[in-house]
Amino acid sequence: MAGFLEVGLNLPYVKEFVAAIVGVGGFAYTFYKIGRRAGNGGDLAQIASLKQESQSLRERFQDLERTVKDPKDFWLRSPSTVDLVEHQNAQASSIPVICVVNFKGGVGKTTISANLAGHFAALGKRVLLIDSDYQGSLSETVMAHANVADYVGSSYMLIEGERDPEAVRGKAERLLSINSGMWIYPAFYDYSRSEVKMMFRWLVGRDNEVRYNLSRYLRSAPFSFDNPDTGFDLVIIDAPPRLLTGVVNALVASTHVLVPTILDGQSQRATVNTVMAIQQFRQKLNPSLKFLGIVPSMVSTAAGYNDRELEAIGDLERSLGESGELVPVLKSCPIWRREELAKAGGSEIVYSRTSNNASTREVREMFGHLGQHVERNVRWRTSRSLEEMFSVPGAKVRVSQ
Ligand SMILES: Nc1ncnc2c1ncn2[C@@H]1O[C@H](COP(=O)(O)OP(=O)(O)OP(=O)(O)O)[C@@H](O)[C@H]1O
Ligand SMILES: [Mg+2]
Repeated sequence: MAGFLEVGLNLPYVKEFVAAIVGVGGFAYTFYKIGRRAGNGGDLAQIASLKQESQSLRERFQDLERTVKDPKDFWLRSPSTVDLVEHQNAQASSIPVICVVNFKGGVGKTTISANLAGHFAALGKRVLLIDSDYQGSLSETVMAHANVADYVGSSYMLIEGERDPEAVRGKAERLLSINSGMWIYPAFYDYSRSEVKMMFRWLVGRDNEVRYNLSRYLRSAPFSFDNPDTGFDLVIIDAPPRLLTGVVNALVASTHVLVPTILDGQSQRATVNTVMAIQQFRQKLNPSLKFLGIVPSMVSTAAGYNDRELEAIGDLERSLGESGELVPVLKSCPIWRREELAKAGGSEIVYSRTSNNASTREVREMFGHLGQHVERNVRWRTSRSLEEMFSVPGAKVRVSQ
C-alpha cells in the first residue's frame, strides 16, 4: 500500500495514475451503457423484429428456389378472379391473336409467322406482327424486306406495360413497302433485358400482374379493330423456343395457338411437351385459348409425306390423343422444305415478293392453304357501322387508312 501511495503521490507518476483511473472508469462506463442498451425494451423488440424479418426472407428465398426449379410453375400462379374474369370478357370480343409457338428451336415458327402475315395482308387485313424473340429473326427479315433501318418501337414496351396505349400504338413500325396493311413491333437484345427485369419484378412480388401487360395493350382502344385510324384485324406473335416473360404474355394475350413442328422423333416429343405446357397456361390464365393445330413444317417433298414422316405423324397423333387434347395435326396444310424459304430467312418474306415466278407462286399456295385453315377457325371482327353501311351482315370489311 505504502508502495502504491508512494507511486501515486510521487509527482512524476501522477499523470499515469490519473490516466489509469480515468481509463478504467471509461471502460466500465462503456460496458455499463452497452449492458443498458441490450437490456432496453425498445431495442429488444427491434432485434426480435429483425430476426423475424430475416427468417421470413429466408423462407421466401427457399420457396423461390423450389419454384425456380421449374420456371413454368412460378408463371402459373393463379391470377385474381377479377383479373381472370375481366380478361376472359375481353377475349370474347377480341380480334384473332395467333401465337406461333413451339419450345423446340428451328422448326419454322418465324418463317410461318412472316408468310402468314404476308398472306393475310394480301387479303386486305390490317396485320400486326409482334416479335417476342430477342434473337430478332422475324424483325431482321421484315426490316430488311421493308428497307427499314431506323425504328422507334420495340416489343419490350408491350411486356413492360409502363407507357400509355396511345403512345405505344404510335411506335408500331409500318411496313409500307411490303404491304400498307402490315406493322411490326420488332425485338432485339433489349427485349431480353426487359424479360429478365419483368420476371424479377414478378418473382419478388413488386408488380401485381406482369403476365397480362401485352393483353391489356391489344384490348385497348388504339389497337381495336373498330378504330379506323390505328386498329388491327389480326395479330401474329412469333414466339421464341423458351419459356420467358414474352411467351407468358403471348399465351395470355392470344386467342389461338399454331404449333409448327418438324416430323422427326425429337421434335415430336418437344411438340407434345409444348402442347402440355400450353394446356397448363390455358387452364390457369387464359381458358378460352384454342389450338389451331400442329403444322408439319419443312416437309421433305411436295409429292407427299415419306415413311419416316408418316410414322412421326402417327406417333404425334397417338401422344396427343393420350394427353386428352383434340389438337389436329394439319396434314393437309404442310409447309414443304423449299430452297426459296431457306434463303429468305433474315432478308425477305417470300409470300410478299413482287415477283410472281413459279417458286414464289408455290410458296404462296402452301401458305394460302394454311391461311384458309386459320381463316375458317378464327372469328374476324368487323366495324358494325361499316357492316351496316354496306348492308352485308357478316361481311369482312377492310378499313383503309
Ligand atoms: N419450309 C422451309 N423450307 C426451307 N427452309 C426453311 C423452311 N422453314 C424454315 N426454314 C429455314 O430454317 C431455319 C429455321 O427456321 P425458322 O427461323 O423459321 O425457325 P424457328 O422455329 O423460328 O427458329 P427459332 O426457334 O430459332 O426461333 C431458317 O434458316 C429458315 O430459313
Ligand atoms: Mg424464330
